[in-house]
Amino acid sequence: MKQIEQAKLAMQNSYSPYSHFKVGAAIELKDGTYIHGANIENASFGLSICAERSAMVSLLSQGYKKEDIVSMTIIADDSIPVSPCGACRQFMHEILPKDTKITLANLKGDTKVTTKDELLPYAFVLDK
Ligand code: THU
Repeated sequence: MKQIEQAKLAMQNSYSPYSHFKVGAAIELKDGTYIHGANIENASFGLSICAERSAMVSLLSQGYKKEDIVSMTIIADDSIPVSPCGACRQFMHEILPKDTKITLANLKGDTKVTTKDELLPYAFVLDK
């Protein structure tokens, strides 16, 4: 699966000298482009950024829009498919279109396909 391979490539860019837990995220776009994100840690641990948010920040920073997104795939070397943290779920809820296919994966080949509403029901949204 192309999306999984792309997420694995993204994982290679993880900067995780503290946790040694590498995470990769790949956002597939309608034009066939993949936007990669990796977790980037810092000696001031609280500043660390997850792979999911790295990918979404990169996407918007490069001028792509919500409407360009087809799918998002996240991978880590874990016993079960990696599950986004609460902060990333809030971010994903705002940036990903409704019903975007989100695949959670690990290196053993286990996958879980989900949606942003499944990951974060009753999400906080600002309507003003
Ligand atoms: N991490 C992610 O990048 N994404 C997740 O879905 C879970 C956790 C990162 C944050 C930190 O760099 C490391 O994994 C260990 O928590």
